[in-house]
Amino acid sequence: MDLMEKIVSLCKRRGFVFQSSEIYGGFGSCYDFGPQGVELKNNIKKLWWKNIVQDREDVVGLDSAILMSSRVWQASGHLSTGFADEMVECQSCHSRFRKDQLKIFNFQFPISNQIPNSKFQKSKCLECGGKLSAPRKFNLMMKTFVGPVEDSANVAYLRAETCQGIYVNFQNVLQSQRMKIPFGIGQQGKAFRNEITPGNFIFRTREFEQMEMQYFIKSKVKSQKSKVILKNDQELGIEGQNLNAINKDEWSNKEWFVYWANERMNWYLNLGIKKENLRFYKHKKDELAHYAKQGVDIEYKFPFGWQEVEGIHDRGDWDLSNHTKHSGRDLSYFDEKEKKKFIPNIIETSAGADRASLVFLLDAYCEEKVKGEARVVLKINKKLAPVKVAILPLARNQKKIIDLARKISNDLNKNFTCLYDDSGSIGRLYRRQDEVGTPYCLTVDFDSLEDKKVTVRDRDTMAQERIEISKLKEILIMKLNF
Ligand code: GAP
Repeated sequence: MDLMEKIVSLCKRRGFVFQSSEIYGGFGSCYDFGPQGVELKNNIKKLWWKNIVQDREDVVGLDSAILMSSRVWQASGHLSTGFADEMVECQSCHSRFRKDQLKIFNFQFPISNQIPNSKFQKSKCLECGGKLSAPRKFNLMMKTFVGPVEDSANVAYLRAETCQGIYVNFQNVLQSQRMKIPFGIGQQGKAFRNEITPGNFIFRTREFEQMEMQYFIKSKVKSQKSKVILKNDQELGIEGQNLNAINKDEWSNKEWFVYWANERMNWYLNLGIKKENLRFYKHKKDELAHYAKQGVDIEYKFPFGWQEVEGIHDRGDWDLSNHTKHSGRDLSYFDEKEKKKFIPNIIETSAGADRASLVFLLDAYCEEKVKGEARVVLKINKKLAPVKVAILPLARNQKKIIDLARKISNDLNKNFTCLYDDSGSIGRLYRRQDEVGTPYCLTVDFDSLEDKKVTVRDRDTMAQERIEISKLKEILIMKLNF
């Protein structure tokens, strides 16, 4: 089995991710997060929220509705050709492929926007060998109707990105929170896209969660000359400039873009993703999204190749200008110092919570040999581990041991996500916890009744130590770095 197959199998077996509507044969590339998966994804979202919103004075949070006026999507450009993928369709079996992804299907010619459409027709469908159509645009917005009548006046769209809710609330947040530019608004939530080629498990799905932050700045023209460069695979810089030497008040789009890209890269690195599996990919002009002036992806080395986990974009004044134009409401900012109004520019950081879950799972997966036996262990950052402490009584028929183990579990549960399990031999219980990445297993045995101590086993080193029950909470807080 390759790594992807192992992760998919582990996710199902251990309760991270299940296929949606599985008992009905599954449903269109949608997935459900099981008991372990929901803890993992919640931990990712919590750490993002803490890092981006709670730990900073200059960013506040928002939770806007999924359904919005369809005028939002006209203004944003999503209903026009801007938010459409080009696809080719097999004329025999009607399989559809995204034009920009044909290279991953091993088509015989290099793909670029310069390739004449006629070339596509000369290529063959990988599914059935049939003829392919010329590329055509396919809009990704998911349509629905609001209210009892299904007519054009009641059309609504499921949001394709969470950030539009931020733009339309810009003035509400600005005024109610008395924010001063530069400042940001962060939001997490579901987004929907009618993807042509969803796939690779939870990498590309039609329903997914985003974690987005929009940072509102004043655009300054003077520092636009020098280029954004890659200092190394995991660090962006600006040619001939030391960012730290410049006063933040003087920063313009480029400096903020570089700052946020590096902040976001460091978030993944600090949560333990291996450096060699992460890199920046700078967008070329013809690869930019319809709203972006410059863009960089944080890419992860998936088993199916380098792919985006998060995008950082300089959106210029595209969003607030368009919403001002279409809504008729003034979305400008009044600069008290200069006594002037301007439309803020936006630097965006946009990550996927489901895709990040896949990254953290893949990166943490390890297979080891211990005393000649295979051990699968998820060496995931302790802060992300779905369960922090497992409480395992060594003799499941002994009431006194069970009672003590349950009492310890109930006490610790108030501080950590705990799991009590007495359903097998200790070897099997350890293996189960290793596979879901539980950092510490506590075993309660006969000696515990006498010496009031339990054995604490470390997931990564498998080292065991006896710890007094009365000191467990304090020691685990230290070990888990809470
Ligand atoms: N607001 C900008 C925006 O939405 P994007 O690059 O289209 O930018 C940002 O999406 C992130 O959302 C991606 O890096 C990815 O992590 C996640 N994402 C996008 N489409 C997805 C899909 N179909 N399935 C899972 N995650 C997706």
